[in-house]
Amino acid sequence: MTAVEATGLRYAYPDGTLAVDGIDVTVDDGERVALLGPNGAGKSTLLQLLGGLVEPDDGTVRYFGETTDADAVRDRVSVLTQDPADYLFNPTVREDLAYGPAQLDVPREEVDRRIERLADRLDLDGLLSKPPFRLSGGEQRRAALASALAVEPDLLLLDEPVSNVDAANREAVLALLDELAAEGVTLVVSTPDTELVPRVADRVSLLAADGTVVAEGSTREVLTDADLLRACDLRPPQVVRLFADREDVPLTVDEAAERLD
Ligand SMILES: Nc1ncnc2c1ncn2[C@@H]1O[C@H](COP(=O)(O)OP(=O)(O)OP(=O)(O)O)[C@@H](O)[C@H]1O
Ligand SMILES: [Mg+2]
Repeated sequence: MTAVEATGLRYAYPDGTLAVDGIDVTVDDGERVALLGPNGAGKSTLLQLLGGLVEPDDGTVRYFGETTDADAVRDRVSVLTQDPADYLFNPTVREDLAYGPAQLDVPREEVDRRIERLADRLDLDGLLSKPPFRLSGGEQRRAALASALAVEPDLLLLDEPVSNVDAANREAVLALLDELAAEGVTLVVSTPDTELVPRVADRVSLLAADGTVVAEGSTREVLTDADLLRACDLRPPQVVRLFADREDVPLTVDEAAERLD
């Protein structure tokens, strides 16, 4: 079963900028896929198209092999955009986290239970009663992610989920994404950061600056192809460059450390 299947997506902004130029993406149920590309490649635009937040000029997006109506799957699909203001607009962070599930008629006690659990996991405990605009950038990022997770989606589309997030919280976010993936949640993560990709994805769609997908493959295939990445103004992760001449190159520092033991 597919979680989301997009064909022939094309989108130009009102000023004429062609941001997404004929992109196909298929993500199966339970997969972890990265949309990797340089700044301006169209990743955020593509993610918004996949999430049904923006209507494509051409092409279709089908959810769960069932429907092309994004509104019909609002309870199953969550999108974290790059702008925290899309999620944080209530008087307090707690109300922001409650907003999505409340819209879906989740009972109050269940909403509270989700908020407590997410606040605990994403280090938001002391921040729930604050106005969201008084949070730091990284805190806003975590609060926005918590808000996207509070609806407990089957398909989670995340635009740079750990940009601006410190090391400890980054690990907390990534551990939470690992758990969601283990529970069967489908994850699509956009990022320009090749270092992040092995932590969040098994498969990669590589976008070039012109808003097209230039390659698709396993995380290993894409991240070890230095020429392919260079053509998109990207570089392999540092550890891949360090061990480039070895067989079975490690993709993360943890993998490298295991091999050095
Ligand atoms: N509101 C807008 N109006 C006009 N052009 C836009 C708008 N938003 C984005 N663009 C343009 O569309 C293209 C794709 O932008 P997009 O934000 O999707 O890129 P991205 O891959 O997410 O980049 P980044 O890594 O910097 O987040 C860029 O050329 C950008 O300048
Ligand atoms: Mg972006």
